[in-house]
Amino acid sequence: MSQIKIFDTTLRDGEQSPGVNLNKQEKLEIARQLERFGVDRMEAGFPASSKGDFDAVKLIADTIKDSSVTGLARTIKSDVDAAWEALKGAAEPRLHLFIATSELHMRDKLVMTPDQVIESAVSMVTYAKQKFPQIEWSAEDASRSDLAFLARIIEQVIDAGATVINLPDTVGYATPAEYGKMFRYIKKNVPNIDRVALSCHCHDDLGMAVANSIAAVENGATQVEGTINGIGERAGNAALEEVAVALKIRSDFYPYETRLQLNEIKRTSDLVSKLTGMYVQANKAIIGRNAFAHESGIHQDGVLKNVETYEIITPEMVGVTSNTLFLGKHSGRHAFKDKIKELGVELTDEQLKEAFNQFKQLTDHKKEVTDDDIYTIIMEIKTDSAAVNKYQLEMFQVQYGTTNIPTATVVLKTPEGETVQTASTGKGSVEALYQTLDNLIHEELQLIDYQINSVGGGKDALAESYVQLNVNGETMNGRGAAQDVLEASAIAFLNAVNRYIVQQQTLMQKEVLN
Ligand code: KIV
Ligand code: ZN
Repeated sequence: MSQIKIFDTTLRDGEQSPGVNLNKQEKLEIARQLERFGVDRMEAGFPASSKGDFDAVKLIADTIKDSSVTGLARTIKSDVDAAWEALKGAAEPRLHLFIATSELHMRDKLVMTPDQVIESAVSMVTYAKQKFPQIEWSAEDASRSDLAFLARIIEQVIDAGATVINLPDTVGYATPAEYGKMFRYIKKNVPNIDRVALSCHCHDDLGMAVANSIAAVENGATQVEGTINGIGERAGNAALEEVAVALKIRSDFYPYETRLQLNEIKRTSDLVSKLTGMYVQANKAIIGRNAFAHESGIHQDGVLKNVETYEIITPEMVGVTSNTLFLGKHSGRHAFKDKIKELGVELTDEQLKEAFNQFKQLTDHKKEVTDDDIYTIIMEIKTDSAAVNKYQLEMFQVQYGTTNIPTATVVLKTPEGETVQTASTGKGSVEALYQTLDNLIHEELQLIDYQINSVGGGKDALAESYVQLNVNGETMNGRGAAQDVLEASAIAFLNAVNRYIVQQQTLMQKEVLN
């Protein structure tokens, strides 16, 4: 079995998903879970792009020790310098440098000749090599590049010191056969290729990202890049959990293994979905709610006789367990602490106290508190979601009936510390509530998306709401959890606005570095 390195870019390419804006604490929580999952490398962000990204990459680089942390940089000195400042505390600092190599990108985007692109790539790898021991160099839009040119530039960046060569299918255009062929060509036509590792990076525009990644591995790639749940630009990136499980389940066919702890898949997927607000569709491979559900009578009959008739993956393998060990009203601090330990989450004493208080409040309304409920509570506390309380909800009341006009009354505390209140109507209860909040908030707001879900089942389930708002022209996500759907909805709405305010304040403190 040969080892395939897993390079996770959930926090960089994944975070480029429209509307996703994770704060520093949220990124750190995901990074910690990726480390537990066993990714070899994680791309924590693009340090030169903003102060927020720089700070998050630095925090992750200084904290994560069992995975190599990397950051993205263009072939610009100031990008490399910013990346070094953010990454120098990492256990194994690694730089990810990229420049486009397709004729289309070079001519129309970079406005550079092929020779200028080679010169820029080589000089920047040479410069970065003075700082970084490990340099991955990516040929953006490699799959639409001229292969002879690709071979020429790769040979020179290897001579300059690159240690990994990544060949992205940036726009998800390649077919598996074509993509595999490109790796074969590069292996055959670049004389010094044995000095580096080859990496694949696929986007899912035609739904072939995972198949393309596997085709690359079959043709010499020893590193696969991707994201959890396949999130990312446009249609997203290759879903790492799918790549990993495919290699495992078909190990009879693929002689490759990864270092990933497959039973951490569910938790990693849930965390990414929760913090990004990007839900996993029910029929998603490996991790969707229906991935292990058997609906037809014939299938159910087969599974009862022998699960292998219709199940090729066991739920346990990917960490899907039945959520049966409940805590309730009479569970004490001890049981709660044990549960937190079992969930693999570390809390400070202060956070534990707060989590226990919230758990107790929940048991007043909910008979059986599930692992998912507790996980929701602790993630709200750990990721400082509540701490971004610029606008605070003091109280709200909604009157709704089929024969009267839905009316909401809201009392808010503004970021300036003023208490304001008003009432408005709407066609439904959520509209009335959101209209009232909108009337009290200074920012220009437009609701783009609104979702409400229950955490687990049952009439008394915790409600989790996600909203996407356009705040003064910026798309912001917000989330909120509460026992009541309207309360969760109000919290999510304010969370999106508050995130916008925090983001603006960070930008004002120290402007974008590039
Ligand atoms: O898809 C892509 O080409 C990228 C590069 C920055 C590696 O994400
Ligand atoms: Zn990409």
